[in-house]
Amino acid sequence: MNQSRENWGSRMGFIMAAAGSAVGLGNIWRFPYMAGANGGSAFILIYLVFVFIIGLSVMIAEFAVGRRTSLAAVGAYKHYSKRWTFAGVLGVVSAFFIMGFYPVVGGWALAYVFKSLTGLLSNAGAIGDVFGGFITNPIEPLAWMGVFLLMNVVIVAKGIAGGIEKAGKVLMPTLFVLLILIAVRSVTLPGAGAGLAFLFQPDFSEVTGQTFLAALGQAFFSLSLGMGCMITYGSYLSKEEKLPNNALIVTALDTGVALLAGIAIFPALFAFGMEPAAGPGLVFVVVPSIFAQMGGIGTLFAAIFFVALTVAALTSSVSLMEVVAAYLIDQKQMERKKAVYSTGFIMVITGILSSLSLGIMSGFTILGVGVFDFFDILTDKIFLAIGGMLLAIFVGWVVKKEDLEDELTNGGTLTFGLFNIWYNVVKYVIPVAVAVVAVLGIMDIAQTGLMLFGLAVILVLGIFSHKL
Ligand code: TRP
Repeated sequence: MNQSRENWGSRMGFIMAAAGSAVGLGNIWRFPYMAGANGGSAFILIYLVFVFIIGLSVMIAEFAVGRRTSLAAVGAYKHYSKRWTFAGVLGVVSAFFIMGFYPVVGGWALAYVFKSLTGLLSNAGAIGDVFGGFITNPIEPLAWMGVFLLMNVVIVAKGIAGGIEKAGKVLMPTLFVLLILIAVRSVTLPGAGAGLAFLFQPDFSEVTGQTFLAALGQAFFSLSLGMGCMITYGSYLSKEEKLPNNALIVTALDTGVALLAGIAIFPALFAFGMEPAAGPGLVFVVVPSIFAQMGGIGTLFAAIFFVALTVAALTSSVSLMEVVAAYLIDQKQMERKKAVYSTGFIMVITGILSSLSLGIMSGFTILGVGVFDFFDILTDKIFLAIGGMLLAIFVGWVVKKEDLEDELTNGGTLTFGLFNIWYNVVKYVIPVAVAVVAVLGIMDIAQTGLMLFGLAVILVLGIFSHKL
């Protein structure tokens, strides 16, 4: 183990950073449009069950493995068993894939701060066209994505306590305050009740196998699980921290922000008589339209909203970049700055391809989808769920039970009353549940070729990656 390994500066710092990783575009951009597209309340209920049974247990497991080994994802798996290295490598691949589209949307959010302030979003009728024109433009979104990625590189290059932790401590509380402000405005609009009913009155008529896979993928994505991110963050954590408590706090904050985003968006959406199933453009089209109809104060609310979205995206993408950087630092003995610059360079290229795939490169498809969707669907629908399942199998069947109990009770100095329940959930329930949901969902999905490709990637990694 490395004597001079970096550590979080404080407990609050760690929680803010981990919550910063979890709370991101997944909560504010994706959660509302997934809920909207999947019928609202029933999706949300299934999502909540997955979050608190599967997600929370996997997060505790990731923290435990990370802190036990003091190593990031690849090293942590390898520490126990060379044959399992591939599960860590799958995480690094997932990080690159998520970062293939994430900075594109992060760049949109940043651009929209300026678009709202300069009045481009004040004409409600033109907002859809503004969004369509913007994301298909060959230059403009690339420039914003570049700025967004640059901010990432600067923060991650500064390291754990100095960069990631400092940013999280300031930016996360700002985000909570901003969202609460918007939610209060939204629920006090006349006609807001229909939106609350859409969110909270379960209607199971639209539930299919795909709904479950979507909810599971969303749970992993939103909590930053299934690719070693929380293993990596846990590896920098001090031995005094109570892992289960921290996992519960992070999970609760993440869920709270997703629901808050729903409460900020849907009541206003229904109050203005708009469509809930607007897709990925929901936040960028519907939200500015809502604000435009409020007049002058709306401009301010819109700008605040997009600052919040940018902040949330940044603290998350920083954690994704850290997974790759930590791998290069731990396993390839690379210097932090060099690791971050080379990672950033690759991400610029994948980001450019993915951004252009929504415009001038829209004719270019891989297995039936554009580059942006390729990265998004593969990670969300396959890699994270399978990665989470592999972690559960690894923790339940490879790591010794006594080691886990020792780690989760800090060497017997604390009590973790639910240890046995947690252990059995990880060992038996999660592998089976994820397998069932994955099979049902994959059978239901349109892009079968893409799904098979994803599984093939995992298989190939499983065979070859012990060399990495
Ligand atoms: N959780 C973040 C979000 O909701 C995205 C993210 C950061 C992530 N790190 C991750 C997703 C690791 C999966 C795995 O926006």
